[in-house]
Amino acid sequence: MSKQTFYVTTPIYYGTARPHVGSLYSTIIADVVKRWQKLQGADTYFLTGTDEHGQKIAQAAENVGKTPQEFVDSFIAAYKEVWNLYHIDYNQFIRTTDPHHIKGVQELISKLVRRGDIYKATYEGWYCTPCETHVTQMDKTTKKSPLCPSCGRQTVAIAEESYFFKLSAYADRLLQFYKEHPDFVLPSERINEVTSFVESGLKDLSISRTTVSWGVPFPNDPEHVVYVWVDALCNYITAIGYGDPQKKELFEKWWPANLHVLGKDIIRFHAVYWPAFLMAAELPLPKQLLVHGWIQIDKQKMSKSRGNVVDPVELAKLYDAESVRYYLMRQIPVNTDGDYSTGDLEHRITSDLANDLGNLLNRMVVLATKHQLDEVAPVDSWSEQALALHREAQIVIEAYQEHMKQYEFHLALARLWKFINQVNAYFHGQEPWKLAKQNSEQFHQVVSATCHSLRMIAVLLWPIMPEKMIALLNSIGVAIEPGSDTIQSLKLTIWDQRFVLKRIPTLFQKLEEPKEKKMVGSETQEEKTYATIDDVIKVELRVGTITEAQSISESKKLLKFQVDFGELGTRQILAGLRAWYEPDEFIGKQGIFIFNLKPRKMLGMESQGMMLVAQDKEGRPSMVSPVSVVPNGTRLS
Ligand code: MSP
Repeated sequence: MSKQTFYVTTPIYYGTARPHVGSLYSTIIADVVKRWQKLQGADTYFLTGTDEHGQKIAQAAENVGKTPQEFVDSFIAAYKEVWNLYHIDYNQFIRTTDPHHIKGVQELISKLVRRGDIYKATYEGWYCTPCETHVTQMDKTTKKSPLCPSCGRQTVAIAEESYFFKLSAYADRLLQFYKEHPDFVLPSERINEVTSFVESGLKDLSISRTTVSWGVPFPNDPEHVVYVWVDALCNYITAIGYGDPQKKELFEKWWPANLHVLGKDIIRFHAVYWPAFLMAAELPLPKQLLVHGWIQIDKQKMSKSRGNVVDPVELAKLYDAESVRYYLMRQIPVNTDGDYSTGDLEHRITSDLANDLGNLLNRMVVLATKHQLDEVAPVDSWSEQALALHREAQIVIEAYQEHMKQYEFHLALARLWKFINQVNAYFHGQEPWKLAKQNSEQFHQVVSATCHSLRMIAVLLWPIMPEKMIALLNSIGVAIEPGSDTIQSLKLTIWDQRFVLKRIPTLFQKLEEPKEKKMVGSETQEEKTYATIDDVIKVELRVGTITEAQSISESKKLLKFQVDFGELGTRQILAGLRAWYEPDEFIGKQGIFIFNLKPRKMLGMESQGMMLVAQDKEGRPSMVSPVSVVPNGTRLS
């Protein structure tokens, strides 16, 4: 009989920055799910990767003077490094710049064109560049561009020719689908926001851009590139062979995906647009979406743009990666937002991992081997206390399975920890250090019951802390081979295993002293609030007059200035002001510039300093000038 298959995906991460603990969270969830499925005997496939096209990335690349490809390439190694560090067992790391992906996207678009689901028209409206989304409603009172409903930032007005997907034609089918599949979105209450969005009326979706060139060329019309969200969502099918006739079998083996893991911010794309595209392409829909909340810092979403990110590499150096995996799965219910806190992490490590679990193993193994009980033979008859522990173990396995099925990781772990403490109470209550001297048969029984319990605990915990649990099992002479009978074999009616004990290095180190007061942005609070006088002196600020100003044809953002610094000479300085000002508005004005900034190249041109600006709420920069004219080159003190 062929094995059951399970295909799980993470969202693909924007290739604009290194991963942080928030992005790690989606990936750990998917990894735990994959490993849990392996324990159930499923044939699994786990896909992750990076989202590398679009205006946001092109702009970020331009800001640092790199080509988009160079820019995204520089982050890929960082993602892979973090995933390896955290023992993420992915099968494929897809990049939307991969040729097989690009081909698959074009194939899907061509199919939708052939089916008459795509047409050309003019799009007029508002666009949120950071979110890469169109915003339809305008603020009627102020007549200003509206704020993006997703991120709250100001949108920009655009009018462009575009291809549209007939999303409006799919509203009824989508609603019908949600009704027939009440478990499509987990947690189930999240489906309400999706349903009301569809019920409020779906507009056709603009799916191409002519203002961006960094993307997948639209089939038969390369002036247009495919809208980045269509491009990105397709990764779930292109990765397993969509669009490649040679890979038909592979595609049919894995599609539809069993689970897409994603954060709550991107639910609409996955629960509305993605199913509609698939319906249009006559492909089956994914079976389920697991929507998780946000990792926050002081109730704010952790994100690069807020500058409150925690670096997973630093974290793994200070603690260890698998303890962090445990903490994230145990501390924060998957359906809610939760605050990351070093205090909580340290508490979980010391209390749950070192004291409750690590110590139990250590005490038992040290005591048994000290009394030459290295080989623990099966027990013939069990005491009532051991039988009670065995009965409890059976109940816990069932409860754990039930919670894992619903992706209630925190509840599964809480239930398991209750059992760990029962095993601790049993072990301690039997006073095995006395039995070792007085009643070797009973001593053997206590050690065996503890080993059986630890075996079950370690197998159940393997998806959360794989290497630690392999080490634990190694200490009692058990090897783990995730397969169809793994969980089943835990549900033995009797405990009849043989164990071979071995001392191993401490599994989890207790934290006697807090390691780090604050990991956020890897600065302590004090350092963040105060600059030292040395920091201030280091920055050389000088006044200069702009003598020439021009726009640069290759850039929508930059203006190029010649700035006169008196006796110190004239310098070329680039600044991101073009979206807001005409070059002539600056001629003859005095500004303040960072004079000792390392020169850097943008679009092949050197910028030899940086203009100071003050930005308003809408992001409009305003040049900073001295109140009255001073000699060019004057240094600020
Ligand atoms: N590129 C899109 C996804 C395309 S999928 C076809 C994207 N990328 S992202 O890098 O911004 O986010 C990727 C995932 O990381 C999302 O699921 C998002 O919710 C998650 N997280 C990013 N920051 C997070 C937290 N602070 N907390 C939890 N998850 C968060 O969106």
